[in-house]
Amino acid sequence: MEIACTAKEEKLFKHIASVAQSKNMPCYIVGGFVRDKILQRPTKDIDLVCVGSGITLAKAVAEAFTKKVKVNYFKNFGTAQFKYDEFDVEFVGARKESYSRDSRKPIVEEGTLEDDQKRRDFTINALAISLNEEDYGTLVDPFEGLVHLKQKIIKTPLDPDITFSDDPLRMMRCIRFAAQLGFTIQTDTFEAVKRNSNRLTIISKERIADELNKIMLTNKPSIGLDLLYKSGLLEIFFPQLIKLVGVEYIDGKGHKDNFYHTLQVLDNVAVRSKDLWLRWAALLHDIGKPATKRFEQGHGWTFHGHDAVGEKMTYKIFRQLKLPQNDRMKYVAKLVLLHLRPISLTKEDITDSAMRRLLFDAGDDLEDLMILCESDITSKNKNKVKRYLENFEAVRERLKEVEENDRIRNWQPPISGDEIMNIFELRPSKEVGILKTAIREAILDNLIPNTRDAAYEYLLKKAEELGLTIKNK
Ligand code: CTP
Repeated sequence: MEIACTAKEEKLFKHIASVAQSKNMPCYIVGGFVRDKILQRPTKDIDLVCVGSGITLAKAVAEAFTKKVKVNYFKNFGTAQFKYDEFDVEFVGARKESYSRDSRKPIVEEGTLEDDQKRRDFTINALAISLNEEDYGTLVDPFEGLVHLKQKIIKTPLDPDITFSDDPLRMMRCIRFAAQLGFTIQTDTFEAVKRNSNRLTIISKERIADELNKIMLTNKPSIGLDLLYKSGLLEIFFPQLIKLVGVEYIDGKGHKDNFYHTLQVLDNVAVRSKDLWLRWAALLHDIGKPATKRFEQGHGWTFHGHDAVGEKMTYKIFRQLKLPQNDRMKYVAKLVLLHLRPISLTKEDITDSAMRRLLFDAGDDLEDLMILCESDITSKNKNKVKRYLENFEAVRERLKEVEENDRIRNWQPPISGDEIMNIFELRPSKEVGILKTAIREAILDNLIPNTRDAAYEYLLKKAEELGLTIKNK
């Protein structure tokens, strides 16, 4: 083998090779597996291409195993897949037309290996390894994929306009591979992305989000995001982010470029955490700034309320990009909303109740919020950065002390909404919410102690103000 395989992989390939031989079907390992093996990246996805029907070969290979293996196949696309140990093995018949399982157009015309290779997305993904007796283990590389892997170049095998028009998602993949592998996109290929960026509109939001998330999970996500911006793709699916680009000046005063600031914050978070959603919070933390930007005479640029506006925009953006509409979305929105709070706690004379309030509002996400805030320091002045980080460290200490005394993080007020409804014989209503909040706020503000008796007494007082009387004591 021209690639270094484990004994287990070798055994699997020998098995596939012998079945392919018996069926008289030339067969090759192709695509990501070959690329990743050469780059010494871990990979468990094995793509095989054969001359003839991929489904027929996959079924024959599966039947020849001693253990039972279930084959899933997609007739329209001529692909078949099965799990074998930790491997995800996929077969496809070589074809003349573009290879894309998701492109919806069924592809049927059979082709040679080279027909198939040239219809793949990038030269580094078009490398094949023969499993045939006469040249078992040999690399088949008609488009200099190996050279490009060494030179760290992303390039399409054909004219890039053709490759991208076969499947416009490849433009996102192009940037994703550049970001993931630390490769450079060859000029003609990148120019073609710019030229064809509008074609991304025909691609489903889910597929776009999938690629975007892969970019978000790279070691330095700013690389991919900046390429998305420069290629014109970002504008197509995420125009809100483009609004952050640029600096405006009035009376000689400018503000920072919020796009590049955001990318810096994202990279800073990426150094501290691999969590995709915390990275999303970094990407969206200032998304409310363009809508709230004002120039105040004598004061300069302000973005009052960009945290609350950003929270609302987060929900909209998650819907728009078809990202999960669940707890993850709420978590991101919450961090966007709270991202200025720890800064306000770095001032002098901060009361315990302000600390308690943040502990309560952030709950279990406090540590992530602190990571976001520390990452939000992007000043080039080393002394300033040092001072700000020390301030945050002091806030962390104070928060720890207050939490140890009050245990407020996952605290629930001593009287629940259900109890309030019961005491005053109320249905779920605005009044119940008002009373519940009043108790919570009074305790957080230290107006009353955190005990049931004090809360009950306070509840009666507040209820009286609303004209309510006790039904059940
Ligand atoms: N492919 C393609 N065009 C696409 C998607 C895939 O030409 N739009 C081809 C490439 O040859 C690719 C192979 O199909 O290597 C397998 O695709 P996929 O599993 O999506 O990507 P990988 O290259 O394996 O990389 P990753 O697993 O990181 O997505």
